Amino acid sequence: MKERLKKYFHSLKWVLNNAKEYRFRILLMLVFNLAVIGASLYTVILSKQIIDNASLSLSITGIIVLYIIIMLAMQLIGAAGSLLSTLIEEKVSFGIRKSVYDKIIRASWHTVNKYHTGDIVTRLTSDAGNVADGVIYTLPGIIELSVQLIMVFFTLFYYSHFLALLALIVAPVSVGVSWLFARRLKGLQKKVQESESAYHSFLQESLANLLIVKAFTNEDYSVDKLTELRKERFKWVFKRSKTGLMGSTTIGLAFQIGYLSAFTYGALQISKKVITYGTMSVFLTLVNRVQGPIIQLAHQIPKLVSLFTSAERIMELSEIPAEEKLDVNIDTTRLGVKVDNLTFAYDTETVLENTSFRIEPGDSTVVMGESGIGKTTLIRLVMSFVKPTGGSISFYNPQGEETPGSAGIRKYIAYVPQGNTLFSGTIKENILAGKHDATSEEIEDALKLASAYDFISELPDGIDTVIGEKGFGISEGQAQRVAIARAFIKKAPFLILDEATSALDEATEQKVISGLQQLTPRPTCLIITHRKSILKYCTQELVISDKKLTAHRQ
Ligand SMILES: Nc1ncnc2c1ncn2[C@@H]1O[C@H](COP(=O)(O)OP(=O)(O)OP(=O)(O)O)[C@@H](O)[C@H]1O
Ligand SMILES: [Mg+2]
Repeated sequence: MKERLKKYFHSLKWVLNNAKEYRFRILLMLVFNLAVIGASLYTVILSKQIIDNASLSLSITGIIVLYIIIMLAMQLIGAAGSLLSTLIEEKVSFGIRKSVYDKIIRASWHTVNKYHTGDIVTRLTSDAGNVADGVIYTLPGIIELSVQLIMVFFTLFYYSHFLALLALIVAPVSVGVSWLFARRLKGLQKKVQESESAYHSFLQESLANLLIVKAFTNEDYSVDKLTELRKERFKWVFKRSKTGLMGSTTIGLAFQIGYLSAFTYGALQISKKVITYGTMSVFLTLVNRVQGPIIQLAHQIPKLVSLFTSAERIMELSEIPAEEKLDVNIDTTRLGVKVDNLTFAYDTETVLENTSFRIEPGDSTVVMGESGIGKTTLIRLVMSFVKPTGGSISFYNPQGEETPGSAGIRKYIAYVPQGNTLFSGTIKENILAGKHDATSEEIEDALKLASAYDFISELPDGIDTVIGEKGFGISEGQAQRVAIARAFIKKAPFLILDEATSALDEATEQKVISGLQQLTPRPTCLIITHRKSILKYCTQELVISDKKLTAHRQ
């Protein structure tokens, strides 16, 4: 139980921290809502006066006018409060999304990649929404209801000690039942969000790979799978609702008993002429109003559980440590790589073991080797997307200055990854990802050197041609050349190509390679390829075997 409370406390701290920026606005909303509660309580007392004055044939006009003024003010403040809450909700939910997105985008690629994008998106949308809802409605709601409870309790206590205490009997029942159900609800809420993630992940992935779905005539299978995932989610939603309902029914029953007791007690007092009808009406209204907040507080429990469960899911993402990004303080005009006793393993599978080699500044190094041997892994290590399990990687210049490998070095590396890595948007936008402030001449130069200029010039919209996800609308080889131009325009001192010309015919490939050789200043190159023809352009070959890399000078 202590552990559980600690966990709740930790989540609560995180949630409050995220809402810190909006605390004054939330406070203002709370003040508005409390004003409405106070005013509404005052109308109860006014109504007693109306009844009592009327039964004694006294004037009630003044009281009715006051009642109407308070009622109007209540409506106005209530409306202002709800407008304010809509505004804050938007801000809080976006605030959380932005801060977690910021964390994810700066976190270690390797760790983030262990999550399905569909799962991350669900956490950033649905879970962040739950948290924002909790911050705006549930948490202030709990404060409001508690204040309301205390105010009503003391008003009732003023009129009748006995009745006030009787009405409070519901409280321990409510708290006890809620605590018992909260634990079960937490487990169920987690399942609901997990099933939501699974459902989103499938939806996103099957749409992204629509071609495969169709090629293997998996349309029916996909619809069935989606239905199945939806059913799974429904199962948990239903179980959660059932558990929540069981809790509120128990509390509801306690409420009914409390109300009946108060009613009987009041009726008996009237028959004995101990109290007036006005007092009786105040009694009943107040008993109602004491128990109302208690029941509503009980209803906040599932919401609180949902807030904490979602907060934990988002916290998990925001707790992924940021990747190491060291400043590069050496002259970076020309760079080489020094790898010493490098060992690397993905979880259990060792890919490279105790290997050392150099790529000298100005070298053109080619890496060949069978599929799955560790070529792409080597690049991930050089670019610090993954961290070595042992040994070290550093960069150095001809002057002999050295800087350790970290995310900071990527600024000096241009990279053409394996596979289609274009974004949806125009070709120009894709090229500009390599250099945001590039001029039209620079774009043209990069495209020419990458042998992409001619085909783009023939497109009706030229570089403003809009392409879809993963370069939809242009051919695989054309997409590769756009990706190469995106890397060329960066004019980085170190260039990495991972099977970047695999979709090109030999003649086009030759053109791209000669374009690469015309790059000024000439970068140090690391080229992964299965084509032997590229060897003749390179100064050294790295051969991977037995988890080791050996350099062969050409
Ligand atoms: N994220 C990962 N988690 C665990 N193992 C991985 C991961 N990525 C790659 N591997 C494994 O590491 C080994 C090397 O993979 P890598 O992608 O470096 O091969 P490659 O030489 O680039 O192959 P290809 O020529 O097919 O692109 C493979 O056995 C692969 O299964
Ligand atoms: Mg590879």
